[in-house]
Amino acid sequence: MIEQLTIFESEKSNKQQAKVVNVASVPQRSPFRYPGGKTWLIPTVRKWLRQENKVTELIEPFAGGGIVSLTAAFENFADHITMAELDEEVAAVWEIILNGNNEWLSNKIFNFELTHDNVYKELNNPKKEIRDVAFCTILKNRVSHGGIIANGSGLIKNGENGKGIASRWYAKTLKDRIAAINLVKHRINFLKADAFEIIEKNVNKKKCYFFIDPPYTIAGKRLYTHFDIDHERLFSLIEEIKGKYILTYDDTEEIKSLVDKYKLQYRTIPMKTTHHLKKNEIIISDNFNWWTENT
Ligand SMILES: C[S@@+](CC[C@H](N)C(=O)[O-])C[C@H]1O[C@@H](n2cnc3c(N)ncnc32)[C@H](O)[C@@H]1O
Repeated sequence: MIEQLTIFESEKSNKQQAKVVNVASVPQRSPFRYPGGKTWLIPTVRKWLRQENKVTELIEPFAGGGIVSLTAAFENFADHITMAELDEEVAAVWEIILNGNNEWLSNKIFNFELTHDNVYKELNNPKKEIRDVAFCTILKNRVSHGGIIANGSGLIKNGENGKGIASRWYAKTLKDRIAAINLVKHRINFLKADAFEIIEKNVNKKKCYFFIDPPYTIAGKRLYTHFDIDHERLFSLIEEIKGKYILTYDDTEEIKSLVDKYKLQYRTIPMKTTHHLKKNEIIISDNFNWWTENT
C-alpha cells in the first residue's frame, strides 16, 4: 500500500463518491503488515464469497500477507483454501506458521529483545534454517520502512511516537495471531509456487473461487522481490477460468486497455492509504451480481 498510492492521489481523490472502508473495522489476522495488503478490501471480499452458501475451494495465488485466505478460514467462508507465494522469505513464514513449528516462531518473537544490535545480528546471520528465515522475515517486515521485505528498504526512523524500529514490533499481538491461525490452519494449504501454474492447474474447476492480487504495474518494483510478472498473460489466463474470480489492479490506462482487450467487466473502488490519501483501485470479476455500490 503506502507510497504507491500517492502517484494517483491528486487526479483521483476529487472524483471519489463512494465511502472508503475504515480499515480499523476489519480484524487484523495476518502476522505481516503487507505492502499492497488487501485488508481494506475485506468487506467487498465477504460479499463476493457470499455468492455461495459455502465456497468449496478458495485459491489465493499471490498470497503475500494472506488476509483473504485468513479471513475466509476464520469466518468460515470456505471449506478448503490454497495460498501460493513465490517469495522465499514470505513463503518461509507461511511454511512455519501453517506446516511447521509455529510455537518456536511465536516464542522467538515473544522473547526477542528488540535493539538495533540484535536486529543487525539477526538480519545478517548467514546460517539459516527455514524457521530462522521465517523469523528474520517477520522481523524485517516489522522494522523496515513500509513493511517492505525486498532488498533496499531502510529501517523505520521515527515511527509511531518516535519509537523508531520498535514502533511496529508488537510481540504479544504477533504471538496471539500465530496462535489463532493455528486453530484454522487445517483448512489452509500453503504452496511455495508460481501463481500462474496454480491458476492454470485449476482453471477448469467450476466451483473454485480465485482471489488474484498480483504485484501492480507501477508500484510493484519497489515493494516486492518478485514484481515482474506478465500482466497480459495473466489476463489471458483469467479469460479461461471456469469458476469465479476477483482480479485487483491499480487504476491505470494500461490495465484498462487490457480489460477492454479481453472484454472483461470491472468496477472501481476507492481506498485510503496509511498516509490517508485516497485513490481508486480496479476490481475485475467474472460477474458483478454480488456487487453493491458503497461496497
Ligand atoms: C499485491 S501482493 C499480495 C498482497 C496480498 N493480497 C495481501 O493482502 O497481503 C502480490 C504478491 O505476489 C507475490 N508474487 C509475485 N509474483 C508471483 C508469482 N509468480 N507467483 C506467486 N506469487 C507471486 C509477491 O511476492 C507479493 O507477495
